[in-house]
Amino acid sequence: MVKCRVCGESVVEFVDFGRQPLSDAFRVPGDTRPEFFFRLAVGVCESCAMVQLMEEVPRDRMFHEEYPYRSSGSARMREHFTATALRLLERECRRDDPFVVEIGCNDGVMLRTVKEKGVRHLGVDPSGGVAETARELGVDVLTAFFEEETARRVRAEHGPADVIFSANTICHIPYLDSVLRGVDALLAPGGVFLFEDPYLGDILAKNSFDQIYDEHFYFFSAHSVRAAAERFGFELVDVERLPVHGGEVRYSLARRGERVATPAVAALLAEEEREEILSLARLRLFAERVHQVRADLIGTLRGLREEGKRVVAYGATAKSATVTNYCGITPELVSFVCDTTPEKQGRLSPGAHLPVRPGEAFSEPYPDYALLFAWNHAEEIMAKETGFREAGGRWITYVPEVTIV
Ligand code: SAM
Ligand code: TMP
Ligand code: ZN
Repeated sequence: MVKCRVCGESVVEFVDFGRQPLSDAFRVPGDTRPEFFFRLAVGVCESCAMVQLMEEVPRDRMFHEEYPYRSSGSARMREHFTATALRLLERECRRDDPFVVEIGCNDGVMLRTVKEKGVRHLGVDPSGGVAETARELGVDVLTAFFEEETARRVRAEHGPADVIFSANTICHIPYLDSVLRGVDALLAPGGVFLFEDPYLGDILAKNSFDQIYDEHFYFFSAHSVRAAAERFGFELVDVERLPVHGGEVRYSLARRGERVATPAVAALLAEEEREEILSLARLRLFAERVHQVRADLIGTLRGLREEGKRVVAYGATAKSATVTNYCGITPELVSFVCDTTPEKQGRLSPGAHLPVRPGEAFSEPYPDYALLFAWNHAEEIMAKETGFREAGGRWITYVPEVTIV
């Protein structure tokens, strides 16, 4: 029996993707060492409703010197995090000499604005390569995994934090108990812990099964976050839906009794009940739809190959590791994937071994079809790649179902 990482009760599995590689382990061609695989399956806790992976990958295998993801690769995400920083500074940094901490600051996409405004800050990120990029922008970074012990160290050295922020990182951390104890140790009285991650409600509504991969350990909802917060002396005091990365929620936690919850919290809790997003029946329906999309997508790609069409993919996302390996997308079906991240280029995608080429490889003569792995950046990409459509090219997406546009 798998026990819930938050409350220790039993977790019921509802979807299984089989053996999967590490989603960000882009391989150097010619490397013959065996790839690491694990069983990717998801379940829901019978007691606290936390949706979580059934198997945990050791953290150092995922987050290390060569972790390739760069948050600043998307113009829209740069704008999102500039706006986020300005809002944190305006609303949460009213004390003299405020201190902002970010868990998982990556290349400094958010903290660079905090730094430019001359506010004391610290990013905590275990991946040495991304931390170095942030430091080059003048951002202060501690290369470490955030957990209780790290938080105590930061508090002893820098004093309490007025605000602790985190984006697309808390859902990566199975040891949520240690994180929340650390937040409690580091946060100033009256301070707030804000974090934003892909929202379970959106994943179900959009059938975006590719949000499920090694690094995404938790799939949060207002119900599960509230239950986890309460175990560690916090209250869920605000929720805000965000359009980024296919639909996220920004959760605000404050120590019990320190802030009044906004009406948005009760509204989202009620919506989750109405939509029954935590019922096993709903979660099993999701699993069925995922199987259907796999059949449709692989059928479409095989059909195009038979017609002699040239298909490439766009965006070597971590998400695409699940799509390619679960659906069986090989280089015979999709000849390469283009991506603007230098750390991914010239390598092979994990498991499926699609060659990764630079963004410039997506140019004349254009392929007939482009499989949009970075569907969460569709607007930005389609606005940039108008030449592809003008040349007669068509996009293939699979969220919420296989569509050719
Ligand atoms: N915040 C950025 C954003 O939203 O684009 C980065 C998100 S990236 C998907 C996740 C980041 O979390 C990586 O840079 C990784 O190194 C970092 N990370 C993983 N575990 C962590 C931990 N325990 N403490 C702090 N950062 C962690
Ligand atoms: P993400 O969905 O996890 O943010 O990853 C997006 C990936 O797509 C990342 O590797 C960068 C890449 N990308 C491009 O290649 N071109 C683009 O225009 C954008 C926005 C992203
Ligand atoms: Zn639980």
